[in-house]
Amino acid sequence: MRIIRHDRNRPYSIKLGEVKGLKELLTDEKTRGYELHICACGLSKNKPFCDGTHMKTDAEEAGKIYTYDNEGSRGEAASHYK
Ligand code: FES
Repeated sequence: MRIIRHDRNRPYSIKLGEVKGLKELLTDEKTRGYELHICACGLSKNKPFCDGTHMKTDAEEAGKIYTYDNEGSRGEAASHYK
């Protein structure tokens, strides 16, 4: 088992037109405006992309550590993980 802690509860947003080195290659304005959302919560079933599952973390209380199983059910971490 591997335990990974994720503190962020929303995705990273990357606008293709703002990526250094890529901006010059994108000639289509529509493509330049395209935005990628990369999962940072660790719960997406479509990694590396966000699938909205991070919304399950909205009800987390500050200062507590939670676990999520493969079905997305939340539990509170055992004290030895804190
Ligand atoms: S940030 Fe992980 S699912 Fe959205």
